[in-house]
Amino acid sequence: MGTMNIETVATVILAAGQGTRMKSALPKVLHEVAGKPLVAWPVDLARDLGCAPIVLVVGHGADLVRQRLGDSGLRYALQAEQLGSGHALLCAEEALAGACGPLLLLCGDVPLLRAETLRALLEQHRAEQATVTVLTAIVDQPYGYGRIIRDGDGVAAIVEEKDADPAQKAVCEINAGIYVFEAPFVFDALRQVGCNNAAGEYYLTDVIAAARAADLRVSAMIVEAMAEVQGINDRVQLAAAAAVMRRRINRSLMQAGVTLIDPETVYVEAGVVIGPDTILQPNIHLRGTTSIGRDCIIESGVMVTDCNIGDRVHLKSGSVLSGATVGDDCAIGPMAHLRPGTVLTGDNKIGNFVETKKARFGKKSQASHLTYIGDAEVGERVNFGCGTITCNYDGVNKFQTTVGDDVFVGSDVQFIAPVTIGSGSLIGAGSTITKDVPADALAISRSEQKIIEGWAAKKRKKQKKQ
Ligand code: UD1
Ligand code: CA
Repeated sequence: MGTMNIETVATVILAAGQGTRMKSALPKVLHEVAGKPLVAWPVDLARDLGCAPIVLVVGHGADLVRQRLGDSGLRYALQAEQLGSGHALLCAEEALAGACGPLLLLCGDVPLLRAETLRALLEQHRAEQATVTVLTAIVDQPYGYGRIIRDGDGVAAIVEEKDADPAQKAVCEINAGIYVFEAPFVFDALRQVGCNNAAGEYYLTDVIAAARAADLRVSAMIVEAMAEVQGINDRVQLAAAAAVMRRRINRSLMQAGVTLIDPETVYVEAGVVIGPDTILQPNIHLRGTTSIGRDCIIESGVMVTDCNIGDRVHLKSGSVLSGATVGDDCAIGPMAHLRPGTVLTGDNKIGNFVETKKARFGKKSQASHLTYIGDAEVGERVNFGCGTITCNYDGVNKFQTTVGDDVFVGSDVQFIAPVTIGSGSLIGAGSTITKDVPADALAISRSEQKIIEGWAAKKRKKQKKQ
């Protein structure tokens, strides 16, 4: 393949449509596939190809779309009224600031398009010195799509369903809605075509006939798999696209050395990174910006969101982790809940029904059963007994618990924060700790045990009489 200087390719992404069939308060292009809004897929694709500038045409829910995607590396153009795809591209002209040469046009509701396909499209456009190159697909049921009317090896026109005669309706090659246009030609043509058609819209597709009338070449490239250019119009198509994306993501994970016991039930979002020899059991969700190291085991029913997980970590069934950092060689769960701000330094054990939040554990510290540790700074080799609770909240404010190294906490202990526990100290089981404990001390706050001989037997006798 020849070289194409992709930096000179401007990109316009159309995302102004309402998406009525989604039946949603959310703009269509903000619905997600693999944790990423629909419109972010073509945006990232254009970025990966190095295209610049990238102009997003927004209309319905413009503010929400802009809020979600941000301004970095993107220019926005507002199409206040949706007067058709041709009008949408005209709205982008100003933001393109005179960019000329090839201009890539993508759709905000087509998430499965691959970089290879766009590279080939741009390459063909250049090789054939075309003025327009359109991406097409051969389908069984062309109903609803614009039909590609060929003459010789070029394209004579694209005719929309509403405007097609029976012979044109029988054509099975359809317009995928993705093009390379030459600027500024495309803008001059769009100003001339007007909206004299069945829909009364400015059709982007009329640029093709205009190019041919000016004796310019219009080329077409047939995409191999229709799925790649499938637009999302409703939630059925959204789920189907998500399934395709899931298979792509899971395949690339497996190719990179991750074991998936049952790939069909593993849900890994687009931004997640996983090291080799990690094993993913069925029915797990790995989301957001999560990264997982090598040689980990992630058991069924685990959900991880925005976490940093080290190497050789064992996440046991039913555990939920979000915004946590987990160092190497930790074992979590089953059914543990690691909330945002949890930092496990390494070699930590967090057992069943343990919840942590904004808590930092030094190396080898552990809480094996039925415990809540929140707003805490914990040293190394600390053992929290079953049922330890940091009482961090007085209904208004949160308070900190600080625990030194080598502290042993017996079962059923409450730390009434703010409180500081010195290194090497021992906290007796059943204690409610309200005052700081010095290093190497024993703290015990439970009342002394009483024995009353025969009391229980006497009570039983009395109960029988009644
Ligand atoms: C369009 C094509 C059709 C093609 C089909 C592929 C035209 C005239 N027809 O038809 O040949 O087969 O896509 O899916 O272009 N948009 C705006 N503003 C508007 C109108 C549309 O931003 O005023 C955006 C939509 O959000 C969408 C894209 O343009 O991303 C395509 O618009 P849509 O209304 O879906 O066009 P179709 O009628 O499906
Ligand atoms: Ca459409």
